[in-house]
Amino acid sequence: MSREPRFDILFEPIKLGPVTAPNRFYQVPHCTGMGYQMPQTLAAMREVKAQGGWGVVNTEYCSIHASSDDLPAPFASLWDAGDVKNMARMVEGVHRHGALAGVELWYGGMRSANQHSREISLATDSMPTAGSPWQCQRMDKADIKTYRAWHKAAALRAREAGFDIVYTYAAHTYLLAQFLDPVVNTRTDEYGGSIENRWRLLREVLEETREAIGDHCAMALRIEVCDEDGSGTDERSALLKSLAPLVDLYDVTIPDYGIEMGPSRFVKEAPLEGAIAHVRAVTGKPVVSVGRFTSPETMLSQVKRGIVDLIGAARPSIADPFLPAKIRDGRFEDIRECIGCNICYANDGNGVPIRCTQNPTMGEEWRRDWHPEIITPAAEHKSVLVIGAGPAGLEAAITLGKRGHEVTLAEKSRDLGGRINLEARLPGLGEWGRVRDWRLLQLDKLANIQVFRESAMTAADVAEAGIDHVILATGSAWRSNGRGRSFARPVPTYDDPRTRDVASAMDGATLTGEVLVFDDDLYYLGSALAELLAQRGARVTYATTGSLVAEWTQYTVEQQRIHRRLHELGVRIMLNVAVPELIPSGAVLEHIITGERQEIACDGFVPVTSREPVDGLWHDLQSLPLETLVRAGDCKAPGIIAQAVYDGHRQAREFDLAPEEIIFRRERPMVS
Ligand SMILES: Cc1cc2nc3c(=O)[nH]c(=O)nc-3n(C[C@H](O)[C@H](O)[C@H](O)COP(=O)(O)O)c2cc1C
Ligand code: SF4
Repeated sequence: MSREPRFDILFEPIKLGPVTAPNRFYQVPHCTGMGYQMPQTLAAMREVKAQGGWGVVNTEYCSIHASSDDLPAPFASLWDAGDVKNMARMVEGVHRHGALAGVELWYGGMRSANQHSREISLATDSMPTAGSPWQCQRMDKADIKTYRAWHKAAALRAREAGFDIVYTYAAHTYLLAQFLDPVVNTRTDEYGGSIENRWRLLREVLEETREAIGDHCAMALRIEVCDEDGSGTDERSALLKSLAPLVDLYDVTIPDYGIEMGPSRFVKEAPLEGAIAHVRAVTGKPVVSVGRFTSPETMLSQVKRGIVDLIGAARPSIADPFLPAKIRDGRFEDIRECIGCNICYANDGNGVPIRCTQNPTMGEEWRRDWHPEIITPAAEHKSVLVIGAGPAGLEAAITLGKRGHEVTLAEKSRDLGGRINLEARLPGLGEWGRVRDWRLLQLDKLANIQVFRESAMTAADVAEAGIDHVILATGSAWRSNGRGRSFARPVPTYDDPRTRDVASAMDGATLTGEVLVFDDDLYYLGSALAELLAQRGARVTYATTGSLVAEWTQYTVEQQRIHRRLHELGVRIMLNVAVPELIPSGAVLEHIITGERQEIACDGFVPVTSREPVDGLWHDLQSLPLETLVRAGDCKAPGIIAQAVYDGHRQAREFDLAPEEIIFRRERPMVS
């Protein structure tokens, strides 16, 4: 296939100071949960992106000196010759495919608590460091001079590692952004107060970085177009203009991270356009910006209208490392579009390697030898029966199909997609349907997959089918008896006509009057249900054992917006409470710390606590002489969609391998 010529513009080379990007596809800096500890894992992942057509591939935030670390969040580093060597591995991989490699030099200031080194953080002022009960040290002039020298030395190391683009990072509330911001920067010396003073450090750092990189590398500046509180756009524009002689590429964003990397539940494609559109004209330099771009039309439009020169992407490049190649080849329908769930970000925040809901191979390129587009054909083609067409079953089926097996996919209901069919109908979650839709399209392309809908299977049916290899992906069902984190055993009084299970509540069961949603699961579902029921007119109380609304969504950058949304809808929010019983007049709430009890009215009750694996068939099949019987996804262990997709993929890759053929590499320091 070939693309329409109108998309050619996206594939034009573009000059960035002394270097030239081969096209306009630009992977902006994004962390990976791998940091400096996993250089081979990291290099392989970045290389796959270059192979997939990204013209520029950047690192994540990369600490310039040991006096600024971000553990427990893994970060890259360019502290010494060892780091240069490790980073060079990534650069070589990226260069192998003709792409440019960039590095984002980072110093955290008051945002880094230095939990690794126990060094005192240096910052604009002595203020509390992020997430810790200790403060940083106000930089004096000698500290500022030392910091500048560290930055310059790191830029030299970046050049030595072979990077083509070196970032000065003045965004996301890190040190250089702290100096720029009139609210945060309360200094009274020549680095605070007036505009010129607040700009001074950034200008000095840019000048010295330029001295270090000379005309070997392009200078990129990541910066917000206004101050942290949203004001000061004119002042910022003047700053951007004045810095233009030093900068080869502006990577621009806004201070609201919840929009910049907004979850699809609240933020749709290209949300930054209005805020950043002026930068190109103001600076006269190439501009890159982000916006969870997955639509080739949006990309084309942004470039043609002169909003940006390069299409910046973090999540779209994670969900589909081959997105540019697919546009290049006119294979638009094959683009595995990011669903905006921010699970990629959540794992970095948890200090573990990145993963992605849509792309099960993300982070597994080196350690499992998985490639997002190339899959080793099976040595011997077998007939495989996949039972259940939710995220795990669909992924298993298409992966088996791509390996050349003859696949029979049986689904008990009419619609394929499993839990996605319900969850994507929750408020804001429509884009989650992409998990299903992409797989259905792939399914259609594979002639060796036969799909049987409305085909609930029994053990007798499986025996009759005569297929010796079975992958079960029968999913899970939300419990309505209260079992979960708070109650190990069923709560007797939940057995009540007012109680509705999650599926029927989502599907429009009559829930009117005073409705209580009990969230003991702590991820998105309880809050999304509360939102849905409030929209349908119920007076909703959202009670959770968490100390925050939808507590785990802190990691997906959704938590505050979810709280705000429920508040706006008039949902009554009760934190740190469990629901130990329903009583005739309502429900009892018990504070999980103080034990204090109160009664509230309750005409309808939806417990969101935990799920029961649907594994009856698994037990029934034990008696059959099957060569392969494995479970995938929620029927084995209910979890997030990313886990189900991953497990379906894995079972399909591995079911016919001997244990010694299964690769799982680990990076760790070795004593020599
Ligand atoms: C997993 C993840 C890690 C990120 N880490 C960084 C980082 O290290 N430095 C940075 O400047 N931005 C980081 N970002 C923000 C991205 O560069 C980008 O601005 C944001 O994700 C919006 O772009 P997108 O819509 O294409 O994802 C990260 C984003 C993600 C998803
Ligand atoms: S994890 Fe979700 S948000 Fe992140 S890239 Fe994958 S699909 Fe997109």
